[in-house]
Amino acid sequence: MRELSVVGGGVIGLSVAWRASARGHRVTVYDPEPGRGASWLAGGMLAPVTEAWPGEEDVLTLGEVSLRRWPDFARDLAEEGVDPGLSPHGTLVAALDSADAGNLEMLAAYLTELGREVEQLTGREARRAEPGLAGSVRSGLLVPGDLAVDNRRLLRALEHACGRRGVEFRRETVTDLEGLGDVVLAAGAWTGRLHPALAEAVRPLKGEILRLRPRRGCLPSPTRTVRAMVEGRPIYLVPRDDGGLVLGATQYEAGFDETVTVRGVRELLEGAERVFPGITEYELVETAAGLRAASVDTMPFIGELGEGVFAATGHHRNGLLMAPVTADAAVAWLDGGPLPDEVAAAAPSRRSEERV
Ligand code: GLY
Repeated sequence: MRELSVVGGGVIGLSVAWRASARGHRVTVYDPEPGRGASWLAGGMLAPVTEAWPGEEDVLTLGEVSLRRWPDFARDLAEEGVDPGLSPHGTLVAALDSADAGNLEMLAAYLTELGREVEQLTGREARRAEPGLAGSVRSGLLVPGDLAVDNRRLLRALEHACGRRGVEFRRETVTDLEGLGDVVLAAGAWTGRLHPALAEAVRPLKGEILRLRPRRGCLPSPTRTVRAMVEGRPIYLVPRDDGGLVLGATQYEAGFDETVTVRGVRELLEGAERVFPGITEYELVETAAGLRAASVDTMPFIGELGEGVFAATGHHRNGLLMAPVTADAAVAWLDGGPLPDEVAAAAPSRRSEERV
């Protein structure tokens, strides 16, 4: 049994803490507000395929490995006492104009070549699958393998599981690793401040996100995640079990600014209305902004940074998705074994020698 400090109590830090403590290690999590940050604001899509783009094959591969682990991860977590609420309904990507339709065809061809399961739909077929889609939707791409999770239930489940396994929580901001012993760095966008090797490799990437709820008489939320590009900007609508809808997300380089702006809210609402017009009558329940931990090349940093220091950060748009593989790798490191092959491409040492 070893002692481990985890800096950061978001989905990555909590997943590492839970899995490590379940193996018998003594774990302390440092975070002034565990269970908050970017994880609290996430849409909850577990969607490597629809987040994929040519040139990001390593991200897709790692995301798919992690996606396959999600059902067991969620089941184990539920057995600890709180079910994180995994939804198996897949994703529908909608194209609104001929340029989008062309991009979807390209994406479908690319994914098919990689052996991923996708189904191309006409506009009519897309509306049959999701009746609330706008009449202007020209075509669609159905990705049945994608999952989604209710991020806030997930955080509750992880905190509960950590508590049950004896994880200690210290509501402190760590600025110096001195005295922490073996440590996993999982402080999201702030991780770059904790270790010089990550200073330029991890940066904040702002995202605004909204929560909506259909009022009485409104068309219900879609049954699966719906995504689209609207004027070059990606939007997604992720339904929740309680009927609500998470609408995300803007993406800006804005340093550590976490202000919700009028422009961000307007862009999201206008974009969503173009895809799913019924939301106009929904209640706007929450507006929020958070900071993704963006990495220089969109791959996370999962691996040893130096004696006793393990990076688990830079997950970019994929923190929830990659929580299971990240936790497994951190536990393998803690156990003193070799890291699993799947995280080789996420090794911090992929950056040039002088920077990492
Ligand atoms: N994973 C979606 C986002 O970062 O907005």
